[in-house]
Amino acid sequence: MVSFEEIKASNALIDDVTSPSVAVFVGGTSGVGKFTIKALVATGVRVRIYLVGRKGSKEPINAFTQELSTINPKAELIWTEGEVSLLAETKRICEFIKSRESHVNLLFLTAGYAPFGTRKETAEGLEIAGSLEYYSRMLFTLHLLPLLQDAEAPKVISVSAGGKEATTIDLDDIDLKRPGNFGGFKAQVQYATMNTTTLEKLADENPTVTFIHSFPGWVNTGNMRRGPDPNSITAWLLRLALEPLISPFCFSSEESGQRYLFQCTSSAFGGRGVSWKGEPGTNSLGKQADGLFLVNDKCECTLSAKVMPILREKAQGKIWDHTQEVLAPYL
Ligand SMILES: NC(=O)c1ccc[n+]([C@@H]2O[C@H](COP(=O)([O-])OP(=O)(O)OC[C@H]3O[C@@H](n4cnc5c(N)ncnc54)[C@H](OP(=O)(O)O)[C@@H]3O)[C@@H](O)[C@H]2O)c1
Repeated sequence: MVSFEEIKASNALIDDVTSPSVAVFVGGTSGVGKFTIKALVATGVRVRIYLVGRKGSKEPINAFTQELSTINPKAELIWTEGEVSLLAETKRICEFIKSRESHVNLLFLTAGYAPFGTRKETAEGLEIAGSLEYYSRMLFTLHLLPLLQDAEAPKVISVSAGGKEATTIDLDDIDLKRPGNFGGFKAQVQYATMNTTTLEKLADENPTVTFIHSFPGWVNTGNMRRGPDPNSITAWLLRLALEPLISPFCFSSEESGQRYLFQCTSSAFGGRGVSWKGEPGTNSLGKQADGLFLVNDKCECTLSAKVMPILREKAQGKIWDHTQEVLAPYL
């Protein structure tokens, strides 16, 4: 485990050289994304942050933006409104960022929720959580890759369930559309596995960009209650039974933000950024080199060694082909 003390010590070294100068946060209106923005801004560095969020989050986020500008006047927050569960909207937001920036150092992806309850689709026909946690994230990544390639120490971080991939992924019904084939737990494993296989492929093709798929551990953000069906029996069972059980083990918002700031800036993952004297991170291929890092809640790299060889052989190509079909109209 990378201790909180080591993390704070590393984050204390962040300066204008090692910090991202342009960052895009998708999902930064609450939870892990918001905690990480706060931690980044509090370092006092010069940074421009595109905070992407839906219309309803604009008012509550205004107070946050004001608080941040008091903490650090060198930080510029650009509210970028859009409904990112829609791929057409994701594309529009990417075009906006591309029209304004020549590079992006950090793409930080956290939008999503635990999809307990019945399957609900966006107007584009994708299950909402699947679109937020997988398709929209991959579309942001593909659109912004040229800007990431032109940046210093570029990183893509997808916060979901890195290290929790499974070979039980359903390859015959990748979007879990068949009647009776959808469930909250199944969907989470499905989307997490898809994140890892596709990010690994993109990491392989883009060796100058560091990719991280991480698991945040338990953080009390209300994430399990965010779905379109917050009053389903499963949602209530989880709320009444699981939340009180896990709350003593949750990371505080402060520690969660610092742990993700560490992942955003430390050279432990891929060798670029704030110098790291501990053990260098090992990528998903088992090498101490750049690539995709599967990072657990202790900020350790895991290999998912039992499942990844099988997924590479049997799932990665099928998932990528399917992803290309879904994303093609929006590229
Ligand atoms: N928290 C945990 O303990 C935990 C554990 C394991 C995995 N995860 C996963 O890690 C990621 C980050 O978790 P978190 O707790 O930081 O998440 P969160 O605070 O609950 O939500 C993150 C973001 O998702 C956006 N979002 C939710 N539903 C949306 C929708 N229908 N359309 C558009 N945006 C939507 C939220 O926007 P609004 O602010 O506008 O609602 C928010 O910005 C999620 O994918 C989560 O499933 C979390």
